[in-house]
Amino acid sequence: MKRVAILISGGGSNMIRLVETMQAEGYAAPVLVASNDPTAAGLAKAAAKGVPTVAVDHRPFGKDRAAFEAELLKPLLAAEPDVLCLAGFMRVLTPGFVTRFSGRMLNIHPSLLPKYPGLHTHQRALDAGDAEAGCTVHEVTPVLDDGPILGQARVPVLSGDDADTLAARVLTMEHQLYPAVLRRFVAGDRTPVLL
Ligand code: GRF
Repeated sequence: MKRVAILISGGGSNMIRLVETMQAEGYAAPVLVASNDPTAAGLAKAAAKGVPTVAVDHRPFGKDRAAFEAELLKPLLAAEPDVLCLAGFMRVLTPGFVTRFSGRMLNIHPSLLPKYPGLHTHQRALDAGDAEAGCTVHEVTPVLDDGPILGQARVPVLSGDDADTLAARVLTMEHQLYPAVLRRFVAGDRTPVLL
């Protein structure tokens, strides 16, 4: 059974969906949830599901991303993950870290990539007058929010939407998309999931 570690920074709603579907269906095993923020609400949610958790605070390392990652790697490597899922993990990773998990690190991003890499995706979609928005799961490469697309889900932009209402609509689809992609990915199937 493939072992999956998940990196979070906040509430962890995507992480919980991954954990719950893995535990319910047995398609993979959640072996660790790690956060760069010790106060991330997702840590307690993961622990309540019986998943080991760890926090490695990035702040003492300042701008030294490699030093932070070296500390993060200790519990991560000890958990021996086959796949690493970024789920609302808000730190940029160095090429060295990404290369270590080459071909087995996934990320979920709240836009229809290649549109809107980076932050404030929903406001940018609204400002552009887009008729639809969505989310993407992709393989992580050293370029931010780049890499082969493994799945996308689309939602309409509705008149009267603001960034919050659009984000909420997209998030419900993130919760469908990420487990669907991970299920395929651990089975060796990289055919994009389109929802
Ligand atoms: C999601 O929209 C994710 O795509 C983005 O940050 C949000 C995290 O939400 N990168 P959660 O922590 O999974 O609830």
